[in-house]
Amino acid sequence: MTAKIRVTVRVPAKVNVQLGVGGLRADGFHDLANVFFAVALGDEVTATPGTPGRGVTLGCTGPDAHQVPLDDSNLAARAARLLAAHHGIEPDVHLEIAKAIPVAGGMAGGSADGAAALVACDALWGLDTPLPVLLELAAELGSDVPFALLGGVALGRGRGELLEELPVTGTFHWVFAVADGGLSTPAVFRECDRLREAAGTGAGVDRVPTPDPSAALLAALAAGDPVALAESLTNDLQAAALSLRPALADCLEAGLAAGALAALVSGSGPTCAFLAKDAAGAESVAEALTASGTCRAAHATHGPVPGARVTG
Ligand code: C5P
Repeated sequence: MTAKIRVTVRVPAKVNVQLGVGGLRADGFHDLANVFFAVALGDEVTATPGTPGRGVTLGCTGPDAHQVPLDDSNLAARAARLLAAHHGIEPDVHLEIAKAIPVAGGMAGGSADGAAALVACDALWGLDTPLPVLLELAAELGSDVPFALLGGVALGRGRGELLEELPVTGTFHWVFAVADGGLSTPAVFRECDRLREAAGTGAGVDRVPTPDPSAALLAALAAGDPVALAESLTNDLQAAALSLRPALADCLEAGLAAGALAALVSGSGPTCAFLAKDAAGAESVAEALTASGTCRAAHATHGPVPGARVTG
């Protein structure tokens, strides 16, 4: 692959159709049975050559751009530096993020930008890094970054980074209701542990068995059956997200009242996800949610879609 002068990568957000949370490990992570599902709602990251010696510079556009950190903590910047270090080159690049995924919303938007930056810089710098190596670098960046590279539907074990692609038929239709303000993922995991301690269950790996993927859920995905999928959606972080943000219950209720097949908190929240029976159903749930006053905005979308891909 030869180096390019401008590369744009499109990358999907995710919803967890099953988020089974096991015990707290000694390294501060939880073992998961995490079924990731990539949706068309996504960001775009454009890489152009940077000023030699200046390293990574970042820009961001979109309604939530002001909430995106443009310093070294941004996963896109960390991804560019990690890829450059792996190849022993200077990480001089400008990354422009067109942000559509809710920020700190439980849809892995920061992780998506990290995955997109890996793919964009790889093409810009003409590196041709093999996918297994990109997946390893992605896992160093964060638990959800490998899935954003892969897309589709996949089971994530370990802390979510050990991926196995899952068979799926057809297209499912979703609505995402964006809340005002984000939730911190570590805070939601901590609240999950606190609720388990308070219930007397305990929170450690010695007390909480690692969950397994649901056979009914996997069958619903393989069959392309939204009604069966609606019956098997689960999120072990939902109680914790609702404990930290009780008003989310009103949003979940409003979506169900508008005809959604199922409602759940997306990942660590606060975005709420609604499964619809078809595209028209998703549009009408999104309209009702927008009018309900229980969320800042609601978007109809679909999936599964591929992971981070060069589009221009
Ligand atoms: O891997 P990532 O940086 O995205 O994780 C953010 C935080 O979420 C971790 O520091 C940890 O507090 C929590 N987490 C967890 N168990 C996981 C994944 C994330 O406790 N499997």
